[in-house]
Amino acid sequence: MKLTVVGGGSTYTPELIDGFARLRDTLPVTELALVDPDTERLELVGGLARRIFAKQGHPGLVTTTSDLDAGVDGADAVLLQLRVGGQAARQRDETWPLECGCVGQETTGAGGLAKALRTVPVVLDIAERVRRSSPRAWIIDFTNPVGIVTRALLQAGHRAVGLCNVAIGFQRKFAKLLGADPGAVHLDHVGLNHLTWERGVRLGGPDGEDVLPRLLAEHGDAIADDLRLPRAVLDRLGVVPSYYLRYFYAHDEVVRESATRPPRAAEVAEMERRLLEMYADPALDEKPELLAGRGGAFYSEAAVDLAASLLGSGSGPRPQVVNTYNDGTLPFLPDDAVIEAQAAVDSSGASPLAIPELDPLHAGLISHVSAYEDLALEAALRGGRDRVFKALLAHPLVGQYATADGLTDRLIAHNREHLAWA
Ligand code: G6P
Ligand code: MN
Repeated sequence: MKLTVVGGGSTYTPELIDGFARLRDTLPVTELALVDPDTERLELVGGLARRIFAKQGHPGLVTTTSDLDAGVDGADAVLLQLRVGGQAARQRDETWPLECGCVGQETTGAGGLAKALRTVPVVLDIAERVRRSSPRAWIIDFTNPVGIVTRALLQAGHRAVGLCNVAIGFQRKFAKLLGADPGAVHLDHVGLNHLTWERGVRLGGPDGEDVLPRLLAEHGDAIADDLRLPRAVLDRLGVVPSYYLRYFYAHDEVVRESATRPPRAAEVAEMERRLLEMYADPALDEKPELLAGRGGAFYSEAAVDLAASLLGSGSGPRPQVVNTYNDGTLPFLPDDAVIEAQAAVDSSGASPLAIPELDPLHAGLISHVSAYEDLALEAALRGGRDRVFKALLAHPLVGQYATADGLTDRLIAHNREHLAWA
């Protein structure tokens, strides 16, 4: 089995390699191809990847290349984890929206739109080249904004599934609090990528007992602290929102805080500098502790599970949280909206499991953001100031024409080099 990682020079890659090495019975990778335009990073990360495989006795071959077509040739699955413009572009996304009183975040709000506009054309080009050389390959998209990018891929007819680690993060955290095996914890997870709620936490599988009320009663403070939301909010909602909901439920507070701390991109850039220094050490043969400071915890395990189900190497179908077409699952959204939910995944792809009716509190925000994502994709595919403006006006965190205009001007000014039409 050949697996290709596009963006393989990412400092995240050792997290993936570690998962592939530990979980080789689930996913028997014979060749892991790391593809990245940055040859220096590629060699540092590739070297460490080989040492991790060797240490763990993994027989797979790790190859590195900057030639995308060569890297994806013969691949069974291609993982996309790239960042157009790097941390520098991210830092801008996190900064200029603040000038208009809006949250500066890499996937939520205006910053997320900028990222979508830079990313969608690049990902579609890569996917086209994957289809040409390996038409049966599955594309697993971890590239943000995952909801919009996955929708772009599916609309273009690609064999693609979107992946995020928010759900697996909750699963592992709740399992720990419950003293349970993570595999036994099933989340009633629903929403759009980075706009999700855990409505139930079931032990033993989708029909198991819902222990969410008990979790909130016994561990509500710890869960709320992690999300940086007041405990009372969780108690009143009776569900656990992802930490991305804080950008909605505490928007103004987040904007105020942003004035007092460096953007996340600056922290990450510094962490990446130190990580790359570590990766250069030929004695290092495991993922360093410092990598846990990044947001991608358990990403590798989610990716292994998903690839194993898509490639038919796992232990049979088990529901997984992925991003895929709604197809009637949430009746208030179009079929071709992309949702993030539990899905049955096998070699024919992912199909969401049925979801009980949603509270209007969640359905309203989901509808609103899904409509924004639709317009955001239009803007990413077709360009033009008016399309950018409309997407921003439609976003629940923007909504006013003067703010949308100010954001549109800034988005275009800061991203001209990445936008073919600007
Ligand atoms: C989580 C999200 C990812 C995001 C990451 C950011 O893992 O699910 O979509 O890319 O956080 O982490 P970072 O360390 O780059 O801030
Ligand atoms: Mn994510």
